[in-house]
Amino acid sequence: MKILVLNGSPRPNGNTNGMIKAFRKGAASVGHQVDVIDVCRMKINGCLACEYCHTKGRGECVQKDGMQQIYALLSESEMLVIASPIYYHGITGQLKCVLDRFYSAAYPSRPPKLKKAAMILSSGAPDMYDEAMFSYQGDFLDYLGLEDMGVFTAHGGENGSSQKLAELFGFGASLK
Ligand SMILES: Cc1cc2nc3c(=O)[nH]c(=O)nc-3n(C[C@H](O)[C@H](O)[C@H](O)COP(=O)(O)O)c2cc1C
Repeated sequence: MKILVLNGSPRPNGNTNGMIKAFRKGAASVGHQVDVIDVCRMKINGCLACEYCHTKGRGECVQKDGMQQIYALLSESEMLVIASPIYYHGITGQLKCVLDRFYSAAYPSRPPKLKKAAMILSSGAPDMYDEAMFSYQGDFLDYLGLEDMGVFTAHGGENGSSQKLAELFGFGASLK
């Protein structure tokens, strides 16, 4: 299947990207196609709440920026992976802008092929995931109705450990 990973970390060699790479290798090893979008390298504005997408635009966002690439991938992908470091108890601001812009992509219903979701989170301290998990559960599982394929977290010394990377590889390789 086609899998879209939204990477909210600005650090190319950071902990989040390490987990994404291991996941991607595992998924690719069983034939999945994984597109990783580094949202911090793109110019993506926050939602304007203009309601154009929910009225005249019929699902199309009035803003034309890096989201066009993400909208195109969203319309083709069967699975979405939200990956982020924890910044002040939540996902990064850059990734939050992207998720807010789903306002148009989720209208009048979710992207047609999108069925599954997963989350990858990295933090310094343990037990830092409540805010990100609340959004994942409420916005992606409940509101969009996506099937939860798993949430993978790493904090402190777990980051970059061979055990954690093996877990992410195994997750990717387990996907049907
Ligand atoms: C601006 C900022 C805010 C952070 N806030 C938290 C936090 O609230 N809780 C926490 O445990 N770690 C926090 N961290 C640490 C990162 O989550 C942690 O270092 C993570 O592994 C970074 O992932 P990366 O290497 O993919 O960028 C913060 C780091 C930064 C730069």
